[in-house]
Amino acid sequence: MEIKKGLHVGIILDGNGRWATQQGKERLEGHAEGVRALLGLIKTCPENRVQTLSVFAFAIANWKRDKSEVDGIWILFLQFLTTHLKGLIDDGVRFKLIGDRSGLPDAVLAASEDAERRSVSNSGTLLQIALNYDGVDEVARMVKNALQNDISPDDVTAQYVQSHLDTEAGNEPDIIIRTGMPEASGGMSQWRGSAFLPLQSVQSVCVSTEVLWPNFTVDHLQKIIAYADPSSRLFGGQRTKV
Ligand code: FPP
Repeated sequence: MEIKKGLHVGIILDGNGRWATQQGKERLEGHAEGVRALLGLIKTCPENRVQTLSVFAFAIANWKRDKSEVDGIWILFLQFLTTHLKGLIDDGVRFKLIGDRSGLPDAVLAASEDAERRSVSNSGTLLQIALNYDGVDEVARMVKNALQNDISPDDVTAQYVQSHLDTEAGNEPDIIIRTGMPEASGGMSQWRGSAFLPLQSVQSVCVSTEVLWPNFTVDHLQKIIAYADPSSRLFGGQRTKV
């Protein structure tokens, strides 16, 4: 298979809370360390041919957490943009927010849209941040939008669906990684997608790792890319070489 301009890697960031517990720290310190891990990884995308990095930073389900933790996550996100946006833009990063924007705190929405506007003409790594996101909710918003716009049933094709999701059509993830999963045992390993890009990941290679997100480094990323080897996928076609 011909490789696109670069890889699209999606990551379900899991394990911040367990990392904090292991260190005898508050959960929010785990999230802060998670932001540091993310920053480290973004910088390594170009050298690892990762053109798009999509991260699941806040699920709709996460509103069920204690208010103090939720508020703390938004503060960390805002600090991340205040402190690092300029540098990332200078490095060519383009920001895209995915998820239900209408449910975000005003300050988070304003800062995210500012990041999108300021980086719109960048052609380096596309950093897609999923906030207030859930893939089933994404489909519900798409259907609602189609009905509101009187889209004819005949026009609702697979291509229509792909191009009316939060993501850009034709840029679906090659690999989805979930960190913080239980270690494989008895030849089995667990996977839970948690409604992260469900329609976009129908052809993705999904890889789970027990590494907690704050401990995830470029070495892990490189090993996973080599393991998942998206260049050998067949998309239902016939294998021509063994
Ligand atoms: C999952 O770990 C992590 C989250 C729900 C939040 C992740 C958010 C950030 C890293 C901050 C967002 C900022 C940026 C810049 C994207 P968990 O708490 O579920 O971990 P656990 O399963 O070990 O409890």
